Amino acid sequence: MPQHAHFTAFLTGVGYHESAWLFADPADLDPIAHVRVLTEATRTAERGLLDAVFFADSPGLEIFRAGYFPQVGFDPLELVAALAAGTTRIGLVATASTTYGTPYDLARRLATIDFVSGGRAGWNIVTTRYAGAAGNFGLASHPEHDERYARADEFVEVARRLWDSWDADAVVHDRTARRWADTARIRPVDFHGRFFDVAGALTLPRSPQGRPALAQAGSSGAGIALAGRHADLVFTAQPDPVSARAFRDRVRAAVRDHGREADDVLVLPGVAFVIGSTEAEARAKRAALEDAVDPEFRWRNLAHNAGLDQDRIDPDRPLGEEVIAAAERSSRTDEVARRSRETGRTFREIADELTGLPGGLEFTGTPEQFADLVEHWLETGASDGFTLQPTTLPDSLELFVDHVVPILQRRGLHRTEYTTTTLRGHLLGERRTAGVPA
Ligand SMILES: Cc1cc2nc3c(=O)[nH]c(=O)nc-3n(C[C@H](O)[C@H](O)[C@H](O)COP(=O)(O)O)c2cc1C
Repeated sequence: MPQHAHFTAFLTGVGYHESAWLFADPADLDPIAHVRVLTEATRTAERGLLDAVFFADSPGLEIFRAGYFPQVGFDPLELVAALAAGTTRIGLVATASTTYGTPYDLARRLATIDFVSGGRAGWNIVTTRYAGAAGNFGLASHPEHDERYARADEFVEVARRLWDSWDADAVVHDRTARRWADTARIRPVDFHGRFFDVAGALTLPRSPQGRPALAQAGSSGAGIALAGRHADLVFTAQPDPVSARAFRDRVRAAVRDHGREADDVLVLPGVAFVIGSTEAEARAKRAALEDAVDPEFRWRNLAHNAGLDQDRIDPDRPLGEEVIAAAERSSRTDEVARRSRETGRTFREIADELTGLPGGLEFTGTPEQFADLVEHWLETGASDGFTLQPTTLPDSLELFVDHVVPILQRRGLHRTEYTTTTLRGHLLGERRTAGVPA
């Protein structure tokens, strides 16, 4: 069991739940107000001594979603650079796609954020699920799943070589000899692979963490393999501690396969939560959010998330095999197909069950019950903590920080102060932050 639980806060708009905006303060609804809401939530997360805040991303808009709830897709890299300024300790994890982007550009921007934040940058490596993104980048079609992961693997490899292109002691500051850096310690990467050809060294010296913390959010075999090679933390959707334990064991085995120690990676399943001072109050809050959901939205959104063609789905029938066969396949498609075949339920019924991350955990209850859940998942080796998905902002996160954190601290399950200054330090402790210059 890890020493204590690790938490990242998955921040979006005025909360994770699609009805959140219907309950939010009207002053928070304008897109410009989202910047303030996210800034304040990041400070709240820091007050609660969480490891990091995390921003998801998709480089393309599904216009139908904007009909239902706010779609304010800030570029996470610019956002975390701005959030670094108002905070001092909290880690800042930005999602960026390896399918739509290039390693030199991204490695440089992430290294810049690591400097700007004093060593708090993290990169959530994704291959992008949304097939429509292809058209935004001049591609005729979205590369298929395993091809995207092959590119991701090479992309991260090149990025890491770029972050290593300056030795930690390359800058010598020798004013007497008039030498700023020892150029022998700056090496062009000269990389030639299947997807990328990259010549030079990075434009800036090694960043405070040496490289940003690396997160991975795919749960397929290819996703786990990528995590095994590179990730410091893994985001995943797991419905219960038994399946979460099996998943975490697979990730840890993949990490060992790559010659790393199993404890070099943290697995943080998502939990979409509603907290109340009594269970009844929490249930009523959850019910109010659920009742406000447009009945069409749920199934359309699940189709979108699982790579299924909305136009081919009759929501009042079980999912047809021909729709599954034509899907942009991912672990989410597999989860939805499995549920459909095992239960025989209609697509609408399945969509109503999967309200958070498809197949992910939802919690509704009191702070004490939330702390019990955290303790149970940690004790049974199901997770190293959680990716918190506050259903409504700012209140869900404030309730967690003000009411759950103190209980966890009393039980010795949450830090009482930050003991390091970098994100990798928060995640893995000082021992595992090799590469960071003194
Ligand atoms: C907590 C969490 C956050 C995620 N955030 C993103 C994201 O921001 N962008 C994205 O394209 N995919 C995101 N994903 C999805 C995965 O990156 C991945 O695309 C998806 O699970 C399909 O890949 P797989 O078949 O390897 O699981 C997220 C998944 C989880 C569990």
